Amino acid sequence: MLRLFRAALCAAAISCAASAADNDSIRLTIDATRPGAKIDRNIFGQFAEHLGRGIYEGVWVGPESKIPNTRGIRNDVVAALKAIKVPNVRWPGGCFADEYHWRNGIGPRNERPATLNPNWGGVIEPNTFGTHEFMDFVQQVGADAYISINVGSGTAEEAADWLEYLTTPQPTKLAKERAANGHPEPYPVALLGLGNESWGCGGSMTPDEYVNHLKVYARYARNYNTAQPMRRIAVGPDGADTGYTEAVMKAWKNKTWAWDIEGLSLHSYTVVKWPPAFKATGFGESEYATILKATLNMESLVTTHAAVMDRYDPEKKIALVVDEWGAWLAATPGSPEGFLEQQNSQRDALVAALNLNIFARHAERVRAANIAQMVNVLQAMIFTRQEKLVLTPTYHVFHMYVPFQEATFVPVELTAGSYKSGDIELPRLDAIAARDAAGKLWLAVSNLDPNRQATVDLSVQGRNVSRAVGQTLVAPKIDSVNTFEAPAVVAPRPLAAKLSGKKLSLTVAPASVSVIALE
Ligand code: AHR
Repeated sequence: MLRLFRAALCAAAISCAASAADNDSIRLTIDATRPGAKIDRNIFGQFAEHLGRGIYEGVWVGPESKIPNTRGIRNDVVAALKAIKVPNVRWPGGCFADEYHWRNGIGPRNERPATLNPNWGGVIEPNTFGTHEFMDFVQQVGADAYISINVGSGTAEEAADWLEYLTTPQPTKLAKERAANGHPEPYPVALLGLGNESWGCGGSMTPDEYVNHLKVYARYARNYNTAQPMRRIAVGPDGADTGYTEAVMKAWKNKTWAWDIEGLSLHSYTVVKWPPAFKATGFGESEYATILKATLNMESLVTTHAAVMDRYDPEKKIALVVDEWGAWLAATPGSPEGFLEQQNSQRDALVAALNLNIFARHAERVRAANIAQMVNVLQAMIFTRQEKLVLTPTYHVFHMYVPFQEATFVPVELTAGSYKSGDIELPRLDAIAARDAAGKLWLAVSNLDPNRQATVDLSVQGRNVSRAVGQTLVAPKIDSVNTFEAPAVVAPRPLAAKLSGKKLSLTVAPASVSVIALE
């Protein structure tokens, strides 16, 4: 581990001689003459479910709280999310969405009913955070609303009413009720989930049963706010099973004028096996490699479902929306049952970067994604404890990747060989590049190998590049975490490539994620 820390420091800032083993010749070529698809900023979406301390405590503290807030919403959380330019937030679930009745969450807060949250610890749901609070929250963050409607235990009428309540500019009974509740203007809803995991917690429907529901909800849950186009996302596959993909895409191909969708959801967690048992901290290299291998399976999932989609939709009109992804690990010992609380380590930073790289490589089809979940739940960006807040390694990856939002993908060729741990063999490095709107080239490099730093010779076709500077996320150990007591153990440090003659070389630390601008 000393070796890891020494190498981390070497790559981050301090110059030191690399050992022979670190010096294998690695070439990375960026071909700026062959730009690809635009990387939709929505792949950096977040997910906020009424689950554990995700909403209550994590986002909502109430206007009377001592914790600094704006209309009940934590200022520190909003500021942190603004800094990573969150494009959209999916809400209110998850499994919670298919049992959520929106009317419980409007009107005077002290009159809202207490209901139950049977999926997540069986706790009381106070309904204090409802439609208006959520829309206020996303507007404070500057994100779009991604609302999931209740297809499981709700009705099409209830969903249609919610959408009319949210979006109509006309003076209907529902619009007047919205105005009476404080918001005369229609709200913008950019994404609408037509159910959640309808193959599981959302109703255990067969693909054909779901398609019958889909046609009805896609017809009646209408967006009336012409200022904000709304993409409707159908429930899609659970992992590798293509049953839903086939059924939904076939129905869409043969659809009538009466309904349409713009996206198909895919859920896949990095979990290895259920129930989640991999430790969030205190793990060794074997668990590290196993989790990274499992997360790289996202590549094959996206490829598999995209191939099915291509058969029905060669023009790629329907987006693949990976609206639940991330590491699902064993819960923090002592945390409440069903709250899905887990620490977040340097390994999770790599999990995040590898998935984002996969989505970027499939940018033409993967046009939105939502990591699960935003605050205090699963692979979170942020932990809160009363007035304290800590940013996780995953947060830092999202921050470093901001330049990739809406940038144009540029192909990368890499000769880095592999990293082996026991019988697991993984790519030693993983990289993506993109050109932003101002024309600047960006490169993200993850070093999966926890034992060897890597020195990469960079070359760019179609550009003269003489400077490469950015940041690297390194850690003393692969399971290093940030805590309330030590919040900056894992934090980005400056990183620069070396120029000798015309040759640019970049040294990246073991188990690190780096993002640099090439100028
Ligand atoms: O993110 C936690 C849960 O995982 C969601 O509620 C559900 O959709 C999925 O199974």
